Amino acid sequence: MDVQTNSVGRQDFSVNRDIFPAEIETKNNISLLEFGQSEKQLINEIIYNDGCLVLKGFKTDVQNFQSFIDAACGGSLVYTERSSPRHAVEGKVYTSTDYPKALPIFPHNEQSYNLGFAMKLAFYSQVVAESGGETPVCNTRKVLTRIDTALRNRLIKEGYLYVRNLCSKEFRGGIGLPWQDVYQTDDLDVVKEYCRKNDIQIEETKNGGIKTIQRRNVIAKHPVTGDHTWFNHLTFFNFRTLPAPMIANLKRFFDIADYPNNTYFADGSELSEDEVTHLQSAYQAEVVARPWGEEEVLIIDNMVTSHARNAFKGDRKVLVTMSESSTWEQCMPDTDQYLNEGF
Ligand SMILES: [Fe+2]
Repeated sequence: MDVQTNSVGRQDFSVNRDIFPAEIETKNNISLLEFGQSEKQLINEIIYNDGCLVLKGFKTDVQNFQSFIDAACGGSLVYTERSSPRHAVEGKVYTSTDYPKALPIFPHNEQSYNLGFAMKLAFYSQVVAESGGETPVCNTRKVLTRIDTALRNRLIKEGYLYVRNLCSKEFRGGIGLPWQDVYQTDDLDVVKEYCRKNDIQIEETKNGGIKTIQRRNVIAKHPVTGDHTWFNHLTFFNFRTLPAPMIANLKRFFDIADYPNNTYFADGSELSEDEVTHLQSAYQAEVVARPWGEEEVLIIDNMVTSHARNAFKGDRKVLVTMSESSTWEQCMPDTDQYLNEGF
């Protein structure tokens, strides 16, 4: 899609789209909410075209940030079918993750394994880490082009399986979230009904746990721009993407079929170590880790920009809210055309 930046004639902010992520900066202490209300069109044009946008120098707080998202980015969403430990700070604004600070988090497009997902994510940096703690971003339209053709085409044709083994909160195994946290209910019948509606196979396992299996596509078509993008959790949830000490622990205590999270080819066969390493390197080649400044906001188009988190030292507080829901049904790729002609 070719959209021109709207030159609004204002002198109180500047736009830089020669960098990734693009930036809008003000030195005039403008309220973020007021900017979102008056420049909604410009903000969205940049997000859709460039994939992500940093807003610097604006005056904001948690309430102002959420109201800004409501005004400029379609309204904040509740976090469902959870995979990351986080807690609500206020309203629909959450800690970006409570995951241990010594461990990095690999790039991913939020909720791509759900039938419904957020189109935009917004991060708000309140406290900058002593070192590290960036939220690296990467263009998954470009990741798609980096993947070996034979592997990519197999995955595009067949999709992949995401398999979870979730413990019950009464019998926590020490790794992974209990199903009660993931689905935000203590009622297993509610979980079964959710799974039925969301194309997830579910079976009960020992000690009150459950196993879920969902087949999902690896590419999606952006409903606004029409771009095809590598949009999946295949690499992120594959056990080989975990930090080495966690892999060693898994191997020591679990059979592979019982790992809390893992991904497979659609026929249930394992990806080889080489294949997972290749997929990881396709992301790593595109990752940009911009250091956070205090009171900065980063908005990403979740379908075409993956996000990650670098390990850090010291205190760090980055809040997140998600907005604009979409569904796989609205983003189905032109698979046959893609396989025959490419894009
Ligand atoms: Fe995330």
